[in-house]
Amino acid sequence: MEMEKVNEHAAAFNALNLDRGLCVGKGASGEVFLASSRDDVSRKCAVKIFDLVKDNRCHEWGFINEVDVLKELRHPRIVSLLAYLGSPRHGYIVLKYYPKGSLEKSLGALKPPQVLGYIRDIGEALEHTHSRGIFHQDIKPANVLVDEEDRAVLCDFGLSGQLKNGNTKVTRWVTTPGFQGPETKTGQAMCPYKMVE
Ligand SMILES: Nc1ncnc2c1ncn2[C@@H]1O[C@H](COP(=O)(O)OP(=O)(O)OP(=O)(O)O)[C@@H](O)[C@H]1O
Ligand SMILES: [Mg+2]
Repeated sequence: MEMEKVNEHAAAFNALNLDRGLCVGKGASGEVFLASSRDDVSRKCAVKIFDLVKDNRCHEWGFINEVDVLKELRHPRIVSLLAYLGSPRHGYIVLKYYPKGSLEKSLGALKPPQVLGYIRDIGEALEHTHSRGIFHQDIKPANVLVDEEDRAVLCDFGLSGQLKNGNTKVTRWVTTPGFQGPETKTGQAMCPYKMVE
């Protein structure tokens, strides 16, 4: 790792009073690390690190958007925001840690009743997000975590859209190819709201 990055990470983890552990996930915006509290090593959390200048692209919007949205959401089926911090080149989001990780690696090995349970759980998570005028826009197995009781928990709100200040339309429509809702193909209303072309 280049020196500037090492120093920024060290300063951020110091400020958050955390020790950095292993990398537990990688995505488009950066990496996710397991971390533990310096006061009590048994208190674990996950730290999602956004590389704000990765691939010559500005990922700042995703970082700010995810923090903004997670602040609005408190629900057992949605990943909890514990803290966040910004530095010149990186954004850090501290989340509740789910040791079982995401559903991506279990694909093909799931039983139908389990799948139905996960669908119900994510339905509950979406009901809560939609009731707050927030649209996840990137529902896929890698963005669904599993908790100790084998219940699904929705994560990764980096691409989500938000209705604010009386707006009734989501103006930014982005998602992962292959996981778009059917309405994105037909240009119909998205969720209970209309999207702008
Ligand atoms: N709180 C958490 N506990 C455990 N593992 C996690 C947690 N948050 C994320 N992960 C792991 O890290 C991966 C990447 O996280 P996330 O989807 O938030 O990042 P991303 O960079 O936005 O990904 P994407 O490529 O979808 O944009 C997840 O698929 C999951 O495996
Ligand atoms: Mg993701």
